[in-house]
Order: sequence, then C-alpha cells, then structure tokens
Amino acid sequence: MGKLSRRQFIAGAGASSLGVILGGCAKKEGSEEVTASEDLMREHGILRRALFIYSEAALRLRNDSSSVSPASLQKTARLFCDFGEEYHEKKLEEAYIFPAVKNAGGEAANYPDILITQHQRGREITDYILELTQGTKLEANNTKPLALALESLARMYRPHAAREDTIVFPAWKQILTAKQLDEMNEKFEDIEHQQFGEDGFEKVEADK
Ligand SMILES: [Fe+2]
Ligand SMILES: [Fe+2]
Repeated sequence: MGKLSRRQFIAGAGASSLGVILGGCAKKEGSEEVTASEDLMREHGILRRALFIYSEAALRLRNDSSSVSPASLQKTARLFCDFGEEYHEKKLEEAYIFPAVKNAGGEAANYPDILITQHQRGREITDYILELTQGTKLEANNTKPLALALESLARMYRPHAAREDTIVFPAWKQILTAKQLDEMNEKFEDIEHQQFGEDGFEKVEADK
C-alpha cells in the first residue's frame, strides 16, 4: 500500500472538493500550545470529515452511482489509511494511550481491547474500499458492496472516536502528571514530524 505524506495528500487534493473539505481542517501550530489529547481530538476532526465524504458517497451510490468518482474515494481511503490507521491509531493510540489506560484500571480500562478490535476491522474495510475504487470507473456489481462498506465504516468509527474523546483520552490525561503530559506533548510532536516532515500542517496550508 503506497504511502502519502500529509503534505503530498493536501497538495495533491487541492483541486478537488475533497481537498477543500480536508485541507480546510488542517491544524495550526506554533502560535498556541496544543496538548497531546487536544491533538488527538483534532485528528478525529479530520477523520470525521473523511467519514462525512463516505456517507455522502454511499447515498449517491444508491441513487446515481455515475456521480461518484472512484478516484476521490480512493484518495479519501488513502488518507484514512495513512493518517488515521498508520499514524493516529498505530503510532499514538495503540503505542501510548491504550496501554497506559489499560494498566491504570477502572472503567476506562475496559475500552482499549474493544477499540483495537475496531481498528483491525476498520483496516479490513479500508483495504476493501481501496480495492474497489482502483479503476477509473466503478464496476456496476461493486456499487452496492461499496456503499455498504462505506456505511459500515462510518457507523463503527463515529461512536469509536466519540468514546475515545469522552472516556479514553480524558482517562489518559488524568493518569499523567503535568510533567509527563508535557513530555508526551513533545513526543507526539516528534512522531508527527518523523511521519510527515518537519513542516507539519502549517507549512502545507501556506503552500496551497
Ligand atoms: Fe481509535
Ligand atoms: Fe482515535
């Protein structure tokens, strides 16, 4: 599966409506301090916009499938994979947040296993979406399965992100001391730069 940097994704998508929707939610850094848990929630904002595109596309696939561009869905699914699954889920949630929340016990500790299962299911659905949207035209017998896949991912991921925002991230924040939280902010920033280059989102926005 090919990899797109954040910069390439936003720059490449600039001319499409998808680019306008997703590029418009790029985060601003530098002028204000963004804490690690705020950062994670902003990332959910980007993923929610992708889910919005999925839901719209599913509706159109059922009404007039010729109005759906497979290239645009392919681009959105790639963003979901590169940004959501490979970075947000694997590098942050599964590497740092879930283990800490599980270790700490309490009600929130019940969630990480369920959330990881949902991550895995989501990756299978994303692979399927990528597979069905490869060509320049959608195959007629693929439109219904594609609509179902888009809807099922959106239906699973919306409550998934909401549980993280309202239960798991707040629990994680409570576990850490102020010093540890500062360290995590820096660590997350380093991971983001490793993954997407030193410029982050700010320069990408300026280059558009
Ligand atoms: Fe997650
Ligand atoms: Fe998440």
